[in-house]
Amino acid sequence: MSAKRSTNARAAALECLLAVLGRGQSLDGALASVLPALEDPRDRGFCQALAYGVLREHRRLGALRDQLLRSPLRSRDYDIALLIELGLYQLLVMDVPGHAAVSQTVALAHERNKAWAAKLANAVLRRFQREMPTVLAAVDDQPAVRYSLPDWLLKRLQTDWPAQWMDLIAAQNTRAPMTLRRNARATAVPELPPAQPMPGFADALVLDQAVGVDNLPAFAQGVISVQDAAAQLAADVLDAQAGESILDACAAPGGKTAHILERAEVKMLALDQDAQRLDSVKSNLERLGLKAQTQVGDAGEPTSWWDEQPFDRILLDAPCSGSGVIRRHPDIKWLRRESDIAELQRGQQRLLKALWPLLKPGGRLVYATCSVLHAENEAIIDAFMAEHTDATALELDLPVGQSVGYGQQILTGESGVDGFYYACLQKR
Ligand SMILES: C[S@@+](CC[C@H](N)C(=O)[O-])C[C@H]1O[C@@H](n2cnc3c(N)ncnc32)[C@H](O)[C@@H]1O
Repeated sequence: MSAKRSTNARAAALECLLAVLGRGQSLDGALASVLPALEDPRDRGFCQALAYGVLREHRRLGALRDQLLRSPLRSRDYDIALLIELGLYQLLVMDVPGHAAVSQTVALAHERNKAWAAKLANAVLRRFQREMPTVLAAVDDQPAVRYSLPDWLLKRLQTDWPAQWMDLIAAQNTRAPMTLRRNARATAVPELPPAQPMPGFADALVLDQAVGVDNLPAFAQGVISVQDAAAQLAADVLDAQAGESILDACAAPGGKTAHILERAEVKMLALDQDAQRLDSVKSNLERLGLKAQTQVGDAGEPTSWWDEQPFDRILLDAPCSGSGVIRRHPDIKWLRRESDIAELQRGQQRLLKALWPLLKPGGRLVYATCSVLHAENEAIIDAFMAEHTDATALELDLPVGQSVGYGQQILTGESGVDGFYYACLQKR
């Protein structure tokens, strides 16, 4: 990798970090704005690895930086604070020669016309190289720092999962595997790089090594999709049968909609309140050769879109904190606030309540989230069951996770999958 190219990749990673941590943008959005300018795919990969990595370790890297600095940086020098985190991350975690990590970080400070910061970064990074074990020992004794979580989230995980929280927070900082879903309708055998099936997950294949979808012709051919194995259980729990009418109430970008359609010939209404995101449902269905009616609308206000024909089954994949998928979206740790949780709960309760009357007697509603917080999962179903005597919670038999009250909770990293919650309610 030439020096200039690698400086560009680091500069792009710094832009992403500033967008996420400084301006509250999502990591996906930030990467989408910087990656196209990097021509070399190796640079794009390096930039992504840096941005994901620093967000995973952000609190720990910040503590290391502050430990190494004589006086804290001013808030207007947040770019330099993050630049030092980028340098530290390369020295601590990445397979980058130490001299390159230091010299490239220094070069980046010069590029930002902050010569003072170049000197400072050089001194801090060199000291880290010399004193790594001592400096790490000084910050790693607090789990919230060692595993880079905001205090409020760690506290919730500890309260909710007293026996499991250590494994859970360690899993949240790992790199997730790339998991594919075979299109059950496709007759062609997909040509794929080495991949392993997952016992208990009918359509899942885990690639030995992640690759860009552009390098998987089977993706464009509609033979495979990219979807975590835990998310693939939605189709199992819903268990839609041929001829039934199905509502996918929060459908975009359509991963679960498509999976349900791949499994059975059903009449599907894919609803989402976000028109732009609903477009991605349409393009996914087109790529896979599947058909559904799509509708922009608020699932909590059925009068504005429902034709009064009750559904056999409803999937409510509710908007949630995403605390189960932090390993794929480490920006969640820094973008979510504790106050979001109560607001998300109100939304989850509202949607569940509004959709229940749309179900036929005997029909099933599946409530799902990619959260590992009780507040968004059992607490929602407990409250719902207390108010709805015509609902029975069905026993689930999933290949992973544990029964919790009315549903089943999968914790991030169990059998290598994302954190998810499923409950299946039948109407009497
Ligand atoms: C967890 S995502 C759904 C993921 C999707 N089921 C999949 O598997 O690809 C939640 C979705 O709910 C949508 N949403 C949020 N509030 C909504 C509402 N009140 N009505 C309909 N859709 C809503 C969001 O736009 C978002 O696309």
